[in-house]
Amino acid sequence: MSERPTPVSVIGLGPMGRAVAGAFLDAGHPTTVWNRTAARTEPLVARGATGAATAAGAVAAGPLVVTCLLDDDAVHAVLDPVAFGGGRTLVNLTSASPEQARRRAAWARERGIAYLDGTIMTPTPTIGRSSALVLYSGPEETYRTQAPVLASLGGTATYLGDDPGRAAAYDMALLDIFWHSVGGIVHGLALARAEGISGGALAPYAESIFGLLPEMTARFARQLDEGVHPGERSTIASAAAGIDHIIATAEVHGIDTGTLTASRALLRRAVEAGHGADGLSRLAATLARPAA
Ligand SMILES: NC(=O)c1ccc[n+]([C@@H]2O[C@H](COP(=O)([O-])OP(=O)(O)OC[C@H]3O[C@@H](n4cnc5c(N)ncnc54)[C@H](OP(=O)(O)O)[C@@H]3O)[C@@H](O)[C@H]2O)c1
Repeated sequence: MSERPTPVSVIGLGPMGRAVAGAFLDAGHPTTVWNRTAARTEPLVARGATGAATAAGAVAAGPLVVTCLLDDDAVHAVLDPVAFGGGRTLVNLTSASPEQARRRAAWARERGIAYLDGTIMTPTPTIGRSSALVLYSGPEETYRTQAPVLASLGGTATYLGDDPGRAAAYDMALLDIFWHSVGGIVHGLALARAEGISGGALAPYAESIFGLLPEMTARFARQLDEGVHPGERSTIASAAAGIDHIIATAEVHGIDTGTLTASRALLRRAVEAGHGADGLSRLAATLARPAA
C-alpha cells in the first residue's frame, strides 16, 4: 500500500458490498459508502466510513469507485444519472453476463472512466481473508494500478486479460457448475427423504461422491481440450441406461424429474450420434453442438 491509502467509494451495501467496504476500512483506506436504503450505511459509518447522501456524492468522494449491486440493471439505475469527474476508475464487482460486462466497459470508455470488471467467487466471510478469490478483467494497466488497493479484499486476485467480459465468462461457467451441483444436492436429498432416508443419514455418503469430482473435472477438462473421450472407465450408453432408474424412482414419489429428463435427453442424443461407447466428457461437446 502507498503511504497515503487510496480513498475508495463503495456503492451497494448488500451482504457482499458490506464485506467489501469493511475490508477496505480494515486495510486503512478512507472509505465512502452509499446505498439505496440509507440505513445500511450506519454500521459502516460507525466503523469509520463516510456516508454519502447520494451516489453522485460517493463518486465525487475519491478516485476509485467500487460497485457491488444486485445486477446490471441496478448498476444502470444508480450510475447512469451520475456525472463522473475526470480520473475516476470504476471497479464493478456486480455479477453480470459477459455481454453486459462488455457493454458496461464501453459505457465507461465513452465517459472517460477507467473500467475493471470483477467477479467475486467466494462467500462474504472470505472477504479480506486469505480464502477470498476475485477474478478481474479489463485493461491491464488499470488492473496493475488498482491491484494494491484491491489486495484489501484478500486472498487471490487473478487477472484474466483485457477482454472486460472475461471475468464474467469465468463467473458464468463456474456458477453453471455450482447451480447444477446445488440442483443435484437438493434433488438427491428429496429423493432420499421420499424413501425414508434422513438428510443426516445420506450426507456422509454424498461426501464420497463429491470427493470424486475434482479429479473428474480435471480429467474431463483435459479430454475436452484434447478432443478425446475414452470410455474405459464408464460409457455414455451405460449412463443412459442407469439414469432411467433414478427417473423412475423420482416419479414414484412425485418428485420433479425435469433436470434428470434433460440429462437423459442429452445422453440419448450422444448415443444416437454414435458416441455411446465414449466417456462422459464427450457430453460437453454434445451440448455445444446438438447435431454432433
Ligand atoms: N453474497 C455473496 O455471497 C456473493 C458472492 C459472490 C458474488 N456476489 C455478488 O455480489 C453482488 C452483490 O451481492 P450482495 O450479496 O451484496 O447483495 P444483492 O442482494 O445481490 O444486492 C443488494 C444490493 O443491490 C442494491 N440494489 C438492488 N437493486 C437496486 C436498484 N434498482 N437501485 C439501487 N440499488 C439496488 C441493494 O440496495 P438496497 O439495500 O436498497 O436494497 C443492495 O445494495 C451481486 O452481484 C452478487 O452476485 C455475492
